[in-house]
Amino acid sequence: MPIIQFPKGLKWGTATAAYQVEGAVSEDGRGLSIWDTFSHTPGKVKNGDNGDIACDSYHRYAEDVDLLHQLGVNVYRFSVSWSRIYPNGKGELNPKGVNYYHNLIDKLLEKGIEPMLTLYHWDLPQALQDDGGWANRETIDAFILYAKTVFNEFNGKVKYWQTINEPLCAAFLSNYQGVHAPGFQDLQLAVDISHHLLLAHGRTVRLFRDMRVEGEIGTATNTTWREPFSIKAEDMEACKREIGLNIDWFLDPIIKGEYPGYMVEWFKKKGAELPIKEGDLEAIHQPIDFIGVNYYSGNIARYKKDAGLLDIENIEIDYDKTYIEWPIYADGLYKVFHYLAERYGDIPLFVTENGACCIDQLSEGRVNDQDRIKYYQQHLTAVSRAIESGINITGYLAWSLLDNFEWAEGYGKRFGLVYVDFHTMERIKKDSYYWYKKVIANGWMEI
Ligand code: NOJ
Repeated sequence: MPIIQFPKGLKWGTATAAYQVEGAVSEDGRGLSIWDTFSHTPGKVKNGDNGDIACDSYHRYAEDVDLLHQLGVNVYRFSVSWSRIYPNGKGELNPKGVNYYHNLIDKLLEKGIEPMLTLYHWDLPQALQDDGGWANRETIDAFILYAKTVFNEFNGKVKYWQTINEPLCAAFLSNYQGVHAPGFQDLQLAVDISHHLLLAHGRTVRLFRDMRVEGEIGTATNTTWREPFSIKAEDMEACKREIGLNIDWFLDPIIKGEYPGYMVEWFKKKGAELPIKEGDLEAIHQPIDFIGVNYYSGNIARYKKDAGLLDIENIEIDYDKTYIEWPIYADGLYKVFHYLAERYGDIPLFVTENGACCIDQLSEGRVNDQDRIKYYQQHLTAVSRAIESGINITGYLAWSLLDNFEWAEGYGKRFGLVYVDFHTMERIKKDSYYWYKKVIANGWMEI
C-alpha cells in the first residue's frame, strides 16, 4: 500500500463553533443571537431542531478537551459567542461569559493544545440585528468593541485568531438565499453585508496590530472548485464566477486592496452595487498572517442562463456524494491550493475546515464510518500533493470534533469524529477518530 508522508511541522487539529456545540443558551447571562431567533421560527430548521442544548459543551468542555488530548491534536479551533460576552452586542460586558472561554482556553493549554479562536461564526447578537444587523455600519463598531475585549482577555494565551468564518455564508446564504439566519432574500442586502463583513475583518486586523496582540491572525474562507464542462468561453466564465464569488470576492479586497472587477460588473447586471465609502478599501486591505481554507466539495459545471445568481448549473456525473448530497471532489482541494498560491503569493494556507457528513450507524457501541475515513484519505492526499508541489500549507483541521447542530439541517447531518447521542450527551469515538489519531501520531497514512 502506498504511504503518504506529511511534514513534521504540520499542525493537526479539529474545529467546532459556539452555537453548534455549546448549548446553555440562557445560562450565565448569555444574550440571544440571530440563530436562537431563527431556529425557533417554525419551518427554518429541519425537524424544528435548535441549539438550545446542542452538545452541551458549555458544561462538558473538559470532557471535549480530553477527547482532543487523546486524539493527539495540537490545535483546536472554536468560536466565541459574541452574545455571551456582550449579551446585547455592546454595552454591558458579561464576566461569566468571558470566564467560560478562560476555562476552555486554560484547559486546552494545560493539555498542550493551541487554541485557534474565531471571533464570528454567524451568531450575531439579536439586539444588533434589531438595529439593522450587518447592514448597519454601527454593527462594525460594536464588533470592534467586542474584538478589543476578546483580544484584551485572551492575549498571550491564544496563538491563532480568526476574524469572520465564511463571510460568503454570513452574507449570501443568510441574506440572499435566506436559508440561514436572519433569513432575508435580497441581493443588494447581501452585497452590502459582504462589504461590511470585510470592513469588520480589516478593522479587526488593524486593531490586532495596533494592540500588538501576540500570535497570528487570518480568515476562514469558503472555497470550492468548478471544473468547466467544456472549454467554451461561457462555461469557463461561469466556473470562474462560482470560484470567484467564493474566493476572489472575499480575498481580493483583503490581499490586493480591490474587488474583482468582473464580479462587480456581474452584480451590477443583477441590480446590486457595492456601498463603498472613502477609506473602506484601505481599511480592508490589511496584511494577514494566513489564509484559512474551508473546503468540502466541488463539481463539473457549465453556463445556464438565469440558473441561480451566477448563471451556472452543476453537471451530475457519477461522483460519490456525502450524506448531505455534496459531491466528493478531492482534486478540487488540490486545485484550490494552487489557485490561492498563484493569486495571492506565498501567504501560508491553513485548512481550517474539511470533513464529511455520513449516515453513521451506532451499533454495539461502535460507529464504523469507513466512508468518512475514505473522504479524509482523499483530501489529505490532496494536501500532501500540494505540499510536495511547494505550496505553503501549515495546518489541517478536521470538521468536526463532534456531531453537532448543522445549522438549517439540524442534528440529522453528522460530521463528527466523535458520535454524540443527543439524548444522553454521551460521546462515542467513531472509527474515523481512531484512524485520524493514528495519522497524527505517525505523521503518515496508508492509502
Ligand atoms: C462550514 C461552517 O463553517 C460550519 O459551521 C459547518 O458546520 C460546516 N461548513 C459543514 O457544513
